[in-house]
Amino acid sequence: MKIVLATHNKGKMEEMSAILSHLPVQILTLDSFPEIGDIPEPGETLKENAFIKAETVHKLTGLAALADDTGLEVDALDGAPGVYSARYAGEKATFDDNCMKMLKELDGIPMGERTARFRTIISFVKSEEKLWTEGVVEGVILDRKQGDGGFGYDPIFYYPNLKKTFAELKKGEKNNISHRGKALRKFSQILEKRIKSNS
Ligand code: IMP
Repeated sequence: MKIVLATHNKGKMEEMSAILSHLPVQILTLDSFPEIGDIPEPGETLKENAFIKAETVHKLTGLAALADDTGLEVDALDGAPGVYSARYAGEKATFDDNCMKMLKELDGIPMGERTARFRTIISFVKSEEKLWTEGVVEGVILDRKQGDGGFGYDPIFYYPNLKKTFAELKKGEKNNISHRGKALRKFSQILEKRIKSNS
């Protein structure tokens, strides 16, 4: 089976390919389909957006498609930016713009009140078959950026158990504990069972 990862985000592609590498499937990325541009995310929930992305790529390629949609939920901001995390600092916001806006919004809020979580929904579409899984990781938003790895909000998302931000973790380390890693491992277990029962 060929599965297309419905994302242009290089960081996500690397994380997702690594976690799925043990499966007997061929993983393709949107790099193989340059005609597919950015896919709009008009949904009001992560699940809606995850399925919009997977269904769009499935329709355009005719292949099984796997998408993720992720949100950062900050308790001091009543769960914002959540589903709007990519556009937090505006439509064309860069990762850095979003981090800087978050640091500004939380300015003066004590560490104990900066709790947050990443939530990922993974969606899979292949003809009539539709699957989804969820993964969550709890952390704290730091008061400055720390670390050069990862992408998105990783430099300000501190993981207390390892005393590091996600941007300070090695790639494998992030996948072992992250929201996306958890959701993808649940998905790959389901897919593995289906492949075994069909063979
Ligand atoms: P989306 O799932 O690509 O819509 O992601 C929403 C926003 O969250 C984007 O700004 C991403 O860069 C950010 N994001 C998604 N996954 C991660 C992650 O694993 N670490 C940090 N930021 C992330």
